[in-house]
Amino acid sequence: MSSVTAGHVPPTTHDHDHEHHHGPEKGWRRWVFATNHKDIGTMYLVFSFAMLLEGGVLALLLRTELFAPGLQFFQPELFNQFTTMHGLIMIFGSIMPAFVGFANWMIPLQIGASDMAFARMNNFSFWLLPIGAILFTVSFFVPGGANAAGWTMYAPLSLQMGPGMDFTIFAVHILGASSIMGAINIIVTVLNMRAPGMTLMKMPLFCWTWLITAYLLLAIMPVLAAAVTMLLTDRHFGTAFFNAAAGGDPVLYQHIFWFFGHPEVYVMILPAFGIISSVVPAFARKPLFGYASMVYATAAIAILSFLVWAHHMFATGLGTTSQLYFMYATMLISIPTGVKVFNWVATMWRGALTFETPMLFAIGFIFVFTLGGFTGLILAVAPIDIQVHDTYYVIAHFHYVMVAGSLFGMYSGAYYWLPKWTGVMYDEKLGKMHFWSSMISFNITFFPMHFLGLAGMPRRYADYAAQFTDFNMIATIGAFWFGISQLIFLWLVIKAARKIGEPAPAQPWEGATGLEWSVPSPAPFHTFETPPVVK
Ligand code: CA
Ligand code: CU
Repeated sequence: MSSVTAGHVPPTTHDHDHEHHHGPEKGWRRWVFATNHKDIGTMYLVFSFAMLLEGGVLALLLRTELFAPGLQFFQPELFNQFTTMHGLIMIFGSIMPAFVGFANWMIPLQIGASDMAFARMNNFSFWLLPIGAILFTVSFFVPGGANAAGWTMYAPLSLQMGPGMDFTIFAVHILGASSIMGAINIIVTVLNMRAPGMTLMKMPLFCWTWLITAYLLLAIMPVLAAAVTMLLTDRHFGTAFFNAAAGGDPVLYQHIFWFFGHPEVYVMILPAFGIISSVVPAFARKPLFGYASMVYATAAIAILSFLVWAHHMFATGLGTTSQLYFMYATMLISIPTGVKVFNWVATMWRGALTFETPMLFAIGFIFVFTLGGFTGLILAVAPIDIQVHDTYYVIAHFHYVMVAGSLFGMYSGAYYWLPKWTGVMYDEKLGKMHFWSSMISFNITFFPMHFLGLAGMPRRYADYAAQFTDFNMIATIGAFWFGISQLIFLWLVIKAARKIGEPAPAQPWEGATGLEWSVPSPAPFHTFETPPVVK
């Protein structure tokens, strides 16, 4: 039908399938045996959105119980299982795979590579994900139900959980292996496969942030694997790493876990910084302000992230000197983060701004993520942290960072690149509706939690004292509103994937100057069922 698919091959009447017998797989084989970065990227993104919905439903179950004091729907044990699985599924099933999906789609295009370095390993690292997700999900149905020890799996509680905990441990291993393979793939692709002239300091920021994130992953995923393996051997093979009664130390678990856990938060935010650094210049029609300082700030954040883990442990009886060190080291991170926020604002300053959906999410990100960063700074202060430890203040803080940060960053990137991915313009009106609805309902959900936390409402409880009722009701209403708002995005993406919309021009955003917009896609010809529009 079309000559564009094969580039310079003139249209012929014979069947393309017979011409390229080693060419594209069809039907389900295209996905199961996928090796091209775009198909794998799409699978990552679809999978992570499905997990977002699963984790979101768990969150809504929590908010349903928390609408009113007293137990109306769930027993505390089941409530805690929902809490734990909400966290694990969102982190390991949704946020991390989503960013790997973005990396798969965009890094080869942004550096002018034909694909990811290890195409078959890429396939393997994707297909591990559903296995991990199934383990998480079916663990609800084993005796004792899912792991209820919290996503952090603290010993000694996690040593006493039923087989659901072993499912979690196994799933974490599998998802960790997937992350490590993804990280290796990204590092090798970025370091070895850049087009001639694409020096490291000319790479789009998204490639930089992912390169640094990939090193973080390589460093921390084995640490998490070690922590859960020690749990496993304590549970089943007679060791006593974390069992105080047998000479072990439960606080050791927290040290190991947070040596993974703090850099992990940057794994979940640095790629979003990269996306925002791509989107803001495009809609400000100005080059990014302070490119080099962005790169160095990203690296500085990554290095500092290994030096602050015990700020999660101020309440464990840490010595005063340690508390002071971890407090000041944590505060230090706000400097490179501040550099980034300053650069984004300076990029917008006197720019020819327009406010399409990707830009709305980017500005929303900068505004609301910064609020989350600021409560992080407050939590870094040891005496305050001890006051609000394990309260809803902490919940509010990290949802400002993970939802308004990671998720809004991803939405910004998704809207920005959807025309590239699908070949059609998405429905801008629906996009704007999605943004405003999400932004308002997000704040209705999570802003009151600051007050709940300061007033002393503890996290991870199915019930609460009557004085917390009003803010909890507001939060639950906001949560359902937020959940429903995400269906706007689902609908919009389904429409775009079915090619309902205006054909996307090669450069749908007039300010976009990245390589991914300006070169014809080097992708395999089967990536688009209908050919991409090249003008
Ligand atoms: Ca209740
Ligand atoms: Cu931390």
